Amino acid sequence: MCGIFGCILTEGKAAPVIHAALKRLEYRGYDSAGEATIYDGHLYMKKDVGKIDQIHSHLNLDDLPGKLGVGHTRWATHGAPSKENAHPFVDCKDRIAVVHNGIIENFLELREGLEKSGHIFKSRTDSEVIPHLIEDFTAKGSNLAEAVRQVSQKLKGSFAIAVISVDEPDKIVCARRESPLVIGIQGKSLYCASDVPAFLPLTNKALFLEENEMALLTAKGVKVFSLKTGESKHFEISTITWSPEMAKKSGYRHFMLKEIHEQPLSLRNALRTQELYYDLMAATINSASRVFLVACGTSYHACLAAAYMFSKIAHIDAKSVEASEFIEHYGTILDRNCAVLAVSQSGETADTLTAIRFAKECGASILGITNVMGSTITRLSSVYIGQNSGPEIGVAATKTFTAQLVVLAKLAIKLAEKRGKITPPESKLLKKNLIEIPEIIETILSENEGKLKHLAEKYWNRSSVCFLGRGINVATVLEGRLKLLEVAYIPALAYPAGESKHGSIAIVEKGYPVIFVSPGGNAYSKIIGNIMEMKARGADILALIEKDDKEIKKLTDEYVEIQSNIPEIFTPIAYVVPLQLFAYYMAIERGSDPDKPRNLAKSVTVE
Ligand code: F6R
Repeated sequence: MCGIFGCILTEGKAAPVIHAALKRLEYRGYDSAGEATIYDGHLYMKKDVGKIDQIHSHLNLDDLPGKLGVGHTRWATHGAPSKENAHPFVDCKDRIAVVHNGIIENFLELREGLEKSGHIFKSRTDSEVIPHLIEDFTAKGSNLAEAVRQVSQKLKGSFAIAVISVDEPDKIVCARRESPLVIGIQGKSLYCASDVPAFLPLTNKALFLEENEMALLTAKGVKVFSLKTGESKHFEISTITWSPEMAKKSGYRHFMLKEIHEQPLSLRNALRTQELYYDLMAATINSASRVFLVACGTSYHACLAAAYMFSKIAHIDAKSVEASEFIEHYGTILDRNCAVLAVSQSGETADTLTAIRFAKECGASILGITNVMGSTITRLSSVYIGQNSGPEIGVAATKTFTAQLVVLAKLAIKLAEKRGKITPPESKLLKKNLIEIPEIIETILSENEGKLKHLAEKYWNRSSVCFLGRGINVATVLEGRLKLLEVAYIPALAYPAGESKHGSIAIVEKGYPVIFVSPGGNAYSKIIGNIMEMKARGADILALIEKDDKEIKKLTDEYVEIQSNIPEIFTPIAYVVPLQLFAYYMAIERGSDPDKPRNLAKSVTVE
């Protein structure tokens, strides 16, 4: 989730305007940044690794000349944070500059072709193929806008781009597919950006580009075209009524809610990560005699679900371990035959780093899944996969949890294939089902948010809540509880449902809320028994059930329906979403700030 910006001004220098806009977009990414402008037949560019203020303090981003330019603030996906990997990217002749947000899935094959025909690359990013492809099309006679359109047909994946060229110095061409892009209009001065906050202090007139549209910005105004056909398109200009603070949250009241709603997008991005790394990671896990999944908090819950996935479809015994317990529990048996997969959103959690440093010293293979490229985990791991969630600002992990689950599910499928535990048609079907999850989450969000708000209004003043599930959804209920604890400060329990009768049932009394995560599948009939046990003691039964559920629905006081027949190993990805919303609205009802829970930090760098 990077931030892009471009502007054409009627007067004054573009560079300080770009710099200020990038600062306002820094919440979308902040590991490197850069700007490019055009003036008097030349392209001027400055970029570096670091936060914008650091870069500006030694490069002075404001002194590039010209009234037109583009800028970028980066959140690394392909290629670690570095000066070379910072945007803008240019063609071989330094005449075309491009800023890009998104992921080009087929960049390796495009790059190979370009290199064969003599193009020189300076970075390890997916984005750099774009200016080189544009260079080829313009060399063959296309104008800049047509070249961008042609290039877009070659790109697989997601992109929002802004392109400038010395050969057509009076225009910015921008285009989007699956990544956001909005045009700001202030008289004859025009802006393009990933998000409204970039230009909101300058204008509240905005044109939101639709999927597969491109725009041509010149001093004469904006024109919009279809990216597929090149046909001109009608557009409407909206007036933004958000305050700058609201705009950063895309109009949502809190980042936590925004990030819950971002999950369809972040999951599509997580699904885009590259096959090669899955292959390498699966090979390492497959050849290990012991496999450990190590993490803290929410990331540990992702590991717990992954242990079920690995066992169910790949027949691998992987132990999920809280990082803070890892050395004490398994320190004596670690050796070079072990594989340790560390999962960490930040890549900097001290307990997780200590665990993998220790394992590495014992000779174990270290693997990593993280949201922060360039973080310590990426440096300690022999193979790592980036989950591509973009920055998560709410302290409570939401979109990064479901993205971890998607990456782990893809890894489980790869392992199952490698070990011959699923047939090619089974694997194909699972992959298809996984690709459908973002859309299922879209539906969950649109159909159930009101209901979850209502449940929070009903239960907000309870002194405790219990979450129960079975099988892989033990991970889901643990995560549901953690969300409620950390943002609404309600002491809550979460258990495998079968365990509840061994102790925790003692606290159940009339009206005590018990939330069951109960999709169909292996555990269905058993969970009905657990519901009956709780009901017999007067509990209020709230259940997350399938849409065509017949039995559980009749036993509940409240239920939330989710699409039927999601493969069991993927159910946590969908079923956790209502629990995130429940925790959020419980926090709101209780008057706490879900974005900044007391006593917690986003990244815990002490043991
Ligand atoms: C909970 C939460 C924490 C983190 C934990 C690990 O909402 O955010 O429990 O999951 O501190 O953090 P990472 O994944 O950065 O290692």
